[in-house]
Amino acid sequence: MRDKIQALLDEARSALSEADTLQALEALRVQYLGKKGPLSLLLRGLGQLSAVDRPEAGKWINAARGEIESEFAARETDVKKAARLAALASETIDVTEPREDYQLGSLHPISIILDELVDLFVGMGYEVVEGPEVEYDLYNFELLNQPKHHPARDAQDTFYIEDNIVLRSHTSPVQARTMLSRKPPIRIISSGRCYRADEVDATHSPVFHQIEGLYIDKDVRMSDLKGTLEAFAKRIYGPDVSVRFRPSFFPFTEPSAEVDLTCPACKGALGGCRVCKGTGWVEVLGCGMVNPKVLELCGIDSGVYSGFAFGMGLERLAMQRFGIPDMRWLFEGDARLMGGRR
Ligand code: PHE
Repeated sequence: MRDKIQALLDEARSALSEADTLQALEALRVQYLGKKGPLSLLLRGLGQLSAVDRPEAGKWINAARGEIESEFAARETDVKKAARLAALASETIDVTEPREDYQLGSLHPISIILDELVDLFVGMGYEVVEGPEVEYDLYNFELLNQPKHHPARDAQDTFYIEDNIVLRSHTSPVQARTMLSRKPPIRIISSGRCYRADEVDATHSPVFHQIEGLYIDKDVRMSDLKGTLEAFAKRIYGPDVSVRFRPSFFPFTEPSAEVDLTCPACKGALGGCRVCKGTGWVEVLGCGMVNPKVLELCGIDSGVYSGFAFGMGLERLAMQRFGIPDMRWLFEGDARLMGGRR
């Protein structure tokens, strides 16, 4: 009996060492450990042994079963590991291999416009600065000459985090922050997300982007503002564009103006153009000479220094420039807007 068991053990071991797939292992498991396997048969045959031999033989059989089971487990671990290594080796991806037909995305229209403007103004000596989107009422309104309950606040109704903390309604708070932290000459641009409590429609969004410019030095005049904005206009809508200044009001600039440019779609043809509604002009920005009161509030001597500021919405520029009829398209993430090209 003992020899028989030993022979069985040897046989199982050598079969196991040759099994190199999980299926082969499973087949061996059935063969050696299954109900009809040799060990089960031996166990069943115990009854024919004498009562003296029986306990001993039972022990041998069970010991052999235990041994085969643990060898199975060990072999199974090895086989799984080998299978995983083989899979890893065969599925290696050569990330450096070039392909011909990949799809290129493109920059979002807002990014295209922004990059262009940053390029233009940096070329004119402006420095890019950033400011927070969650802003103190102080910078968003008060230092910009809009004390609490000032009626001009209505036009920029925004979201309040707390009584004195808002989501900034324009990029102009960066002006105040910069004037407070630097000495003139100051020549900065700043851009980013702004917020207003507007309903979503084709021309409004509670989240939008602006770019702001501020220039403060001795003897800065309205003519400097006009020259700067004309350079800007030609850069974005081409050399033939006309620039029109319309008197306007902002609490933080005096005098203030809104600037219109020749419609980029119909070039001022006064027809049934959808972009300019047949007027031949599109409105692009607000600007003005920095209100001396704002200079003083921000610690700059208005007797010595003067400056101009301007601010514009990037959505509007992108819509005019690319003929996008609905502002929502700029926020929906539809890949077709980005014109994925091959
Ligand atoms: N902050 C103004 C707005 O959001 C735009 C502006 C900026 C006007 C700077 C004048 C000077 O409407």
